[in-house]
Amino acid sequence: MINKIALAGCGNVGTALLEILHEKKGELREKYGFEYKVVLVSDLMKGVIMNPEGLDLGAALESVRETRTFEKLPHAEGTFEELLERSGATVLAEGTPTNLKTGEPGLTHIRAALSRGISVTTTNKGPIALAFDELTALAKANGAQLSYEGVVMSGTPLIDMMKNGVAGCSVLKLEGILNGTTNFMLTKMGEGMEYGAALAEAQALGYAEADPTGDVEGWDAAVKVSILAKILFGTDVPVDKVERTGITKVTPAQIEEAKNNGRAVKLIAGLDASDAQLRAYVEPKEIPASHPLASINGGTNAITVTTDNLGDVTLIGPGAGRRETGQALLGDIIRMSR
Ligand code: HSE
Repeated sequence: MINKIALAGCGNVGTALLEILHEKKGELREKYGFEYKVVLVSDLMKGVIMNPEGLDLGAALESVRETRTFEKLPHAEGTFEELLERSGATVLAEGTPTNLKTGEPGLTHIRAALSRGISVTTTNKGPIALAFDELTALAKANGAQLSYEGVVMSGTPLIDMMKNGVAGCSVLKLEGILNGTTNFMLTKMGEGMEYGAALAEAQALGYAEADPTGDVEGWDAAVKVSILAKILFGTDVPVDKVERTGITKVTPAQIEEAKNNGRAVKLIAGLDASDAQLRAYVEPKEIPASHPLASINGGTNAITVTTDNLGDVTLIGPGAGRRETGQALLGDIIRMSR
């Protein structure tokens, strides 16, 4: 079967997906038997292009490189729903920016696809945080699949590991570093840098949210914990019910003192299922230097999953980045095509 891919949102992540698809066309066919055509790309800034026979990805990427738009290709007219229908897409990659209040525009795109039996992968935290039950029911009712590997730890396959890798284990606890900005800042502050300078550097590197309050006050990590509570335990923990303390009060002196005591200060996001009530939290914690999370520095993410059959399993990898998050979409599309 040829996968006919529609892409909604062609910013850094969407463009990275197109680049990887284009670069690896032969490898994907040979290694995974994965064949594709990209039939629709829709982006607020770059424009809309559509061809049910498959777009010329080389030309689309060249247009983006030269003009930052699709202006060198014919513009497609119509609403997103009409174009999705006409394109004959079998899978939608949804990579529009996260809006945690409305879930839009991702929510509308995902509903449009699933209601037509078109499977969806998304990196957008909004629709998954706000409408997980509705969307999974919609997928089921229409014989479609819904995947969302990229909403936590970008393409580092935490969701796949939890659904497939540790299948059969009971999960007792998860504790991780799920926000790259704050981990980068704590690392730099441990090297003597002041809070403000560390934040400015995290912003310059593109780790931070548009409003970095979301990072330093622990909101971004809390959203990820809330999503994991739903996906992994089927439990609704609204973001404002996650016990949350950010890093705004952590000082270089405190980090130094912890280090002298053989400990590292990390912003830990956790879910503890060992009691009847699932506990969800985000808080700066001093952890022993011997713990795998203590050595995770910079923008890297990591999570330790405590299970009955395997004991602790730790997954380490990127939590953000254009190609890293493009990989999340690609991995989902390949897995869904099997
Ligand atoms: N601002 C987020 C972080 C980006 O720093 O981890 C990825 O969700």
